[in-house]
Amino acid sequence: MDSVGVLVWLSVVVTILSKSHADRNVYPSAGVLFVHVLERDYFKGEFPPYPKPGDASNDPITFNTNLMGYPDRPGWLRYIQRTPRSDGVLYGCPPWDHIDKQTVIEITAYNRHTFETARHNLVINIKSTEDFHFQYQAEFFIRNMNVEEMLASEVLGDFLGAVKNVWQPERLNAINITSALDRGGRIPLPINNLKEGVYVVVGTEVQFSSCLREVETPQNQLRCSQEMEPVISCDKKFRTQFHIDWCKLSLVDIKRVVTVPHERSPHRPGMLLDIGEYNPPPSR
Ligand SMILES: *[C@@H]1O[C@H](CO)[C@@H](O)[C@H](O)[C@H]1NC(C)=O
Repeated sequence: MDSVGVLVWLSVVVTILSKSHADRNVYPSAGVLFVHVLERDYFKGEFPPYPKPGDASNDPITFNTNLMGYPDRPGWLRYIQRTPRSDGVLYGCPPWDHIDKQTVIEITAYNRHTFETARHNLVINIKSTEDFHFQYQAEFFIRNMNVEEMLASEVLGDFLGAVKNVWQPERLNAINITSALDRGGRIPLPINNLKEGVYVVVGTEVQFSSCLREVETPQNQLRCSQEMEPVISCDKKFRTQFHIDWCKLSLVDIKRVVTVPHERSPHRPGMLLDIGEYNPPPSR
């Protein structure tokens, strides 16, 4: 074979090899939280020697995730894997301007013992759903959770349940999740099981409840400014599982947000983000 022949042959082999891993398609909606778990158990089966059912291989596996043809992920999509023996998680809020475009994420799994790699494509097809324009959005800061704990569907479900309980919307959706580390938080010392903390944005169609607005009272604003806990009547609905920092609660009516400056912080507790003027809605 001449060198061109070798190249053609190689590219055929490469094509066959890469075709052997089917692309995986997912269809998240723009404007609501997207979570995709990279399961170690699934990827374990991809590495030679292929484990037989019942094999208890616990090799460390790490993942690399990037937008096809680029070294990194798109800005809206974040990734976390706490240790090589935990699952990886891709998450973020798919942007409206990516609707009906395909985002292809290359996922490479590395077995850290055998140095084998496995390759998959995740094809993200962002859908537009008119239902998911949420006018009222609240951002909570949860002190006693890390982002990957919060991303677990049962924990997030518990949190949404607690919020529903104190807000009473028809529908409530998670919109975005951010580790406190991404906002300049610090990794806590490994004592007392302290957590980094996580911000969760949720959205609904109904006006903020009076409980959520309690943080805006002058007494609570004063307490917050003195780094004291505000007094929030519905805090007990969260307390058993979630420690909310009520001073960091942000309530945003997106119909009132005129401009969105790049600098979001520092937040003032309980205040609308991003706009100079604050008009309290008529009381009901
Ligand atoms: C979601 O959170 C990330 C990290 O804070 C931020 O960069 C992104 O703009 C947020 N997305 C939306 C739609 O708010």
